Amino acid sequence: MPITILQVDDVSVDFSGFKALDKVNFYMDTGELRFLIGPNGAGKTTLLDVICGKVRPTEGQVLFGDGIDIGRMSDYHIARCGVSRKFQTPSVFENLTVFENMELSVKGGRGLLFSCFRRRDSRELDRIHAVLGKVDLEEKAGGKAGYLSHGEKQWLEIAMTIMQDPKLLLVDEPVAGMTGRERSRTGEILLETAKDRSVLVVEHDMNFVKRFAKKVTVLHEGRLLCEGTFEEVGNDPTVIDVYLGRGGEAQENGLH
Ligand SMILES: Nc1ncnc2c1ncn2[C@@H]1O[C@H](COP(=O)(O)OP(=O)(O)OP(=O)(O)O)[C@@H](O)[C@H]1O
Ligand SMILES: [Mg+2]
Repeated sequence: MPITILQVDDVSVDFSGFKALDKVNFYMDTGELRFLIGPNGAGKTTLLDVICGKVRPTEGQVLFGDGIDIGRMSDYHIARCGVSRKFQTPSVFENLTVFENMELSVKGGRGLLFSCFRRRDSRELDRIHAVLGKVDLEEKAGGKAGYLSHGEKQWLEIAMTIMQDPKLLLVDEPVAGMTGRERSRTGEILLETAKDRSVLVVEHDMNFVKRFAKKVTVLHEGRLLCEGTFEEVGNDPTVIDVYLGRGGEAQENGLH
């Protein structure tokens, strides 16, 4: 029986009278890789912001794990409960090596200075190498992060979030700006990552979603429109309307 890890109940977010989210009900199971799609301004990023504590819901509740109410917690405390967010633009330290960036992200790290002076035990070092191996960056561990390609920086950030050992990882538009090969590899990395944690991915690239998604949730104008396999949501008349109503985005985005 699947176990629910995230329960978003009737959540609304009101930005000075504008409803970015309107009574959204959204659930995820442990070990699930879920894709969240929808036209620009649908509320996808806002939903991630609510789950990680960057934005407070105006109404509704957000329960995580064993029913912990994270809807009113600070982002810091939510992260400690096991929710990690990888933001859209890479924010690695370019002048540090790939390995040093990873050291900074080790769970329990207490900031830059602490991380620089602390001696790592061999288990921690092994783990850093193992996680870098998962994103094909082990050979670049000693090189400056600034020399990585855009795609590799995104993978380094995913690796850094994995180091925090989150139960739920939130990823916003991971393949934007990536080459075709990097996109494929990113999909495999996300599938692999979701083997021992839940991963929620916002993505516009429908070819990518089609290839890697089992279950897709569609948001539109702050409301949850439908959920299902890529084929199911792609054949849903309301989804087709929403995408076609916006200048044929469905075809443009590969929904059909
Ligand atoms: N801080 C804010 N203040 C006011 N309005 C906001 C704020 N943040 C987001 N919005 C609005 O809320 C709506 C939803 O925004 P959101 O960024 O969640 O959409 P999205 O689905 O992520 O879109 P995109 O695909 O373009 O990234 C948009 O109309 C946006 O302009
Ligand atoms: Mg967004």
